[in-house]
Amino acid sequence: MTTAAREKIIGDPVDRVDGPLKVTGAAPYPSDFTFPGLTHAVVVQSTIAAGTIRGIDAAEAEAAPGVLAVITHENAPALAEGPMTPLGPSPPFPLRDNRIVHRGQHVAVVVARTREQARAAARLVRIGYEETAAVLGIGDPRAPVLVNKWGLDVDRGDVTAALASAEVTYDETFTTAAVTPNPMGLFATVARWDGDRLTVHDASQDPMLVRKTLAAVFDLPETDVRVLVPYLGGGFGAGLRVWPHVILAALATRIVAQPVKLVLTRPQMFTSVGHRPETRQRVRLGATRDGRLVAVDHESTSTIGALDDGGVEPVPQTTGNAYSCPNVATHDRRARLHIPSPHWMRAPGAAQGNFAMESALDELSYTLGLDPIELRLRNYTEVHPGSGRPWSSKALRECYHAGAERFGWARRTPKTGSMRDGNWLVGYGMAGVTFTPGQAPCQASVSIRRDGTAYVRSAATDLGTGTYTVATQVTAELLGLDIDQVQVEIGDSDLPFAPYSGGSGMATSLSGAIQDAAGKLVQAFLDVVANDESSPLRGRRAAEVTTTEGGIYVTGAPSIGETYGDMLARHGLAEITADGERDPRANGASEPPSGSFAARFAEVRVDPELGLVRVTRIVSALDAGRILNEKLARSQMIGGAVMGIGMTMLEETVFDHETGRIANATFGDYLIPAHADVPDLDVVFVGTPDMVRPLGIKGIGEIAIVGVSAAIANAVYHATGRRIRSLPITVEQLL
Ligand code: MOS
Repeated sequence: MTTAAREKIIGDPVDRVDGPLKVTGAAPYPSDFTFPGLTHAVVVQSTIAAGTIRGIDAAEAEAAPGVLAVITHENAPALAEGPMTPLGPSPPFPLRDNRIVHRGQHVAVVVARTREQARAAARLVRIGYEETAAVLGIGDPRAPVLVNKWGLDVDRGDVTAALASAEVTYDETFTTAAVTPNPMGLFATVARWDGDRLTVHDASQDPMLVRKTLAAVFDLPETDVRVLVPYLGGGFGAGLRVWPHVILAALATRIVAQPVKLVLTRPQMFTSVGHRPETRQRVRLGATRDGRLVAVDHESTSTIGALDDGGVEPVPQTTGNAYSCPNVATHDRRARLHIPSPHWMRAPGAAQGNFAMESALDELSYTLGLDPIELRLRNYTEVHPGSGRPWSSKALRECYHAGAERFGWARRTPKTGSMRDGNWLVGYGMAGVTFTPGQAPCQASVSIRRDGTAYVRSAATDLGTGTYTVATQVTAELLGLDIDQVQVEIGDSDLPFAPYSGGSGMATSLSGAIQDAAGKLVQAFLDVVANDESSPLRGRRAAEVTTTEGGIYVTGAPSIGETYGDMLARHGLAEITADGERDPRANGASEPPSGSFAARFAEVRVDPELGLVRVTRIVSALDAGRILNEKLARSQMIGGAVMGIGMTMLEETVFDHETGRIANATFGDYLIPAHADVPDLDVVFVGTPDMVRPLGIKGIGEIAIVGVSAAIANAVYHATGRRIRSLPITVEQLL
């Protein structure tokens, strides 16, 4: 089966199909759902970072107006363990016992008729604590350090020997601050019983995981739990776990036997749904005088919560696969602190690790007197260094060239402080990016109805990145339909299985499932007319036909064929449905390694007297294989660059090391880029469809942020001669 050229829809800058719903306020986000008899739950959070609860006096809260229940560890029923998930064990459940492991831990939930009543009563819950010494600094010698157990550390060749004999060596330490994802949509859970079924509207990137977790915790068959996420106000990874408040909302609805809505406040979001952990990284390099890497050693410690499993934050993970180097070692460790559980946030680990590694290479380029791009090209590799096998596709070289061209890299004069514009010092910096986007088993069912329209169903979620739109485009093109003939229904755990919307893998995974369904649909239509005397497609095989013009036609003979609607009508069928599935594991080890690649270029202007830094331009050149929708892809890349500017220049979740309190857990105090901080952001797409991934898609969501920090820091160095190895880059560091 092929698709007619005139209907190439994949790649088009199609407007978001859900745009009108969103801009008119008609798209329901989790917190928008309401039901008759809806009650409201508000969490009470610990005000100490470590210790135990001595006692709880809830009498006053229970007597407050409208209060239906005050649930604490003293009266909560024992809940079963959550399941193991693809990302590790579920987070520690709330209200299990009297232990406190971080400030902001949920210690009670108050349910009342109105949210105001619940909030008022929450302040009346008196909790006595027995405080113990909290461990809050990443460098605190009391912090237990876990060695990464995910097997991602690399140990190739003999780094120690290579460093000892290298002509040029480098050894520096980098730090990155904790940052908080802060999706615009406050995380919310609305839980209710619908007969025997528990129905939950939840801000989640993984409704199937929420279903599985709630079923395990409340001892229900999975089919008796339904999780709905038609729209999500962002996630950045925060929606990849089932956080304690989700369990609390479900517990509350069981206890009060009424629907319950629980919406976290913005300050609560800082402690309740994960954050990108702080890191300390040591990078050691060995190189020849002509710029060939002979040794790379990348060591990272990032933080983890007191009861968390050693969950993976793969800070140095891409280091081993980015450049050709015979001797590479990476070490990923985690220091246990009394902090809220950190969690995956857009390009977890990679965003921080790339900052250190690409800053280090920039430093090396100055030591060697080489152009930073030239240094990277001297260590370029066409094979995936970890496996020694060729990449499925790699256009990083093109990223360097196209990005440099677009940016005007040739205008750069190598010496630091050598470029000026009036009083401003001007700096150019760049970074290379290698990233491994994910993909996971996914199902989708696709139906074609008698009116010729298609209907796609999958449990997949749209984080706000455009899943509805790209699924519509893929279906339309593969079936020869127009965009407005395709309807996509996602975000419902009752629909065919989909993996989490994360790891940059949803577009790939879902497209693979749709592609499988589309192929099966065409075969199903050919089967229907196989012996149909009046069908021009009688006896035709799938390999001979093209989907176009709302039907199936013989390839090269566009007058021979008929529409889907005609076939259905003649055979008295309302619709035909095909169930599609793709499991990337099916090809197993035979599949070549694949990656997305990018080059980042940043221009900064620095006021030498004030230490003021302005990021004035960022150019991103990206190889993500086939781009499904140029407008959405550009938007992802721009959003990632803005987030990268935030991480590099402004954002820092400040934990008070005495109390564990987050000092800036509001949008008034936590700095994120505003319009004035966001310059001209330019994006160039290079590369070609990847040969091993469905439809050639490699994934874009996470690589969108990676490399921004190093490019900016390298530009700051070029402008000022000041090497900043600590994020965020502040005025204080520059003065
Ligand atoms: Mo991303 S951290 O996998 O949402």
